[in-house]
Amino acid sequence: MGDSDSEEHAMGENNRIDDVRDQYAGVARGELSNESSSVRAVASAFGYSAAELDQLPAEANMGLSCGNPLALADVREGEVVVDLGCGGGMDVFLAARKVGSSGRVIGVDMTDEMLRRARAGQQKLGLTNVEFRQATVDRLPLPDQSVDCVISNCVINLVPDKLAVFREILRVLKPGGRVALSDIALKQPLPAAVKQSVEAYVGCISGAILIAEYRRLLADAGFVAVVVTDTAADLNAYSIASDAGCCGGDSCGPDANAEQWSLHDGIASVMRSFDVNAFAASVRVHALKPSSTQAVHSSPVFNVSPVSKEQAMKTVQIYDKPMCCSTGICGPDVDPVLPRFAADLDWLKGQGCQVERYNLAQQPQAFVENQTIRQLLGTDGVDCLPVVVVDGQIVSQKVYPSRQDLAGWAGTSQPKPVLAVVQSGGGCSGTTGCC
Ligand SMILES: C[S@@+](CC[C@H](N)C(=O)[O-])C[C@H]1O[C@@H](n2cnc3c(N)ncnc32)[C@H](O)[C@@H]1O
Repeated sequence: MGDSDSEEHAMGENNRIDDVRDQYAGVARGELSNESSSVRAVASAFGYSAAELDQLPAEANMGLSCGNPLALADVREGEVVVDLGCGGGMDVFLAARKVGSSGRVIGVDMTDEMLRRARAGQQKLGLTNVEFRQATVDRLPLPDQSVDCVISNCVINLVPDKLAVFREILRVLKPGGRVALSDIALKQPLPAAVKQSVEAYVGCISGAILIAEYRRLLADAGFVAVVVTDTAADLNAYSIASDAGCCGGDSCGPDANAEQWSLHDGIASVMRSFDVNAFAASVRVHALKPSSTQAVHSSPVFNVSPVSKEQAMKTVQIYDKPMCCSTGICGPDVDPVLPRFAADLDWLKGQGCQVERYNLAQQPQAFVENQTIRQLLGTDGVDCLPVVVVDGQIVSQKVYPSRQDLAGWAGTSQPKPVLAVVQSGGGCSGTTGCC
């Protein structure tokens, strides 16, 4: 890019940020609230339970979410959590309950009016473990390695330079920390008219990037164990809410809604012009910051001790690569080792062992909760998978072990040796996209 090209590019990006700020300031000034059934309907469509919504102050929810990142973040007591583009603070308040008085939640947003709402809600709830800061999400006012978990809901698509945001998230996360996002991403490139529409940009559609690019940018920034999954939520939820809000909804005054519903109306009109669900998706994103190498190598759980055959009722846990079903045997190009391994696990269960199987695409929390697995993913990435753990100790990595090996570790009677260890290959993994 020449000097004038890059100046023009920067100006274009600044204009977009200004458009986004203006639009969301307008929404925040309006009266959309958690007390409106239409607004609650948007949040419910994207995964919030009635019990969660009941905890919120009125001003926190404006029907602006596109998922529920806390469903994925596995936030624990005492943690430091940051919510990027927190809006009226709905995810901040829900996270504040989870971290408790020994933890802290920081909401970051660039829009004054949003922060005003968020602080009003904080005051109503009397929360002292919460703070709000004004900043753009590519320049966080936070020290390096100070955060356990970064969440965000329907914001990254609005940011022109996504790689800069992912690098900034990586900077503030502690080693082994995690990012859990809900966002809009694309299944295929948008029609040109939608791509150029300002309404579609501020409405979280045309700033979105392809799902594959989302994964690539997170990996380029330095994240490991990156999983981006389509939740299959219906994106028309916004237009349904807009219709209800403007025609029969309970937050409509005579002329009160021109500004507050203008964002939803804009999205609704864009959505009427094309089949949004064919092009875009509400996605769940989960990724880890690598742990420090030292922390991993000093971990005692890597000292694998053989399991005695006399010990009965072992618990065998399998941490699988991202797959689109629980066994990986649903797609057209199934790795032949997977049906064999599924059968071996059934056999193991028949021997009285407890068998638990998790795959990174569907149960990322299980990977995060297990400190050993989390650290291993942090250093080796998804290449370490599958990992087999018997009674809390890692007994194998990178391969699907044979029935004989499983029997040996679990201390069951040995079967006849019929199958050798096979290096795991393709199959129904998140990368093959078989489903
Ligand atoms: C779609 S709303 C989502 C709000 C909130 N996360 C929710 O689910 O209710 C987007 C929010 O992100 C904020 N935002 C957009 N771009 C931003 C940026 N570059 N830096 C900081 N905040 C931003 C807007 O001000 C707005 O509050």
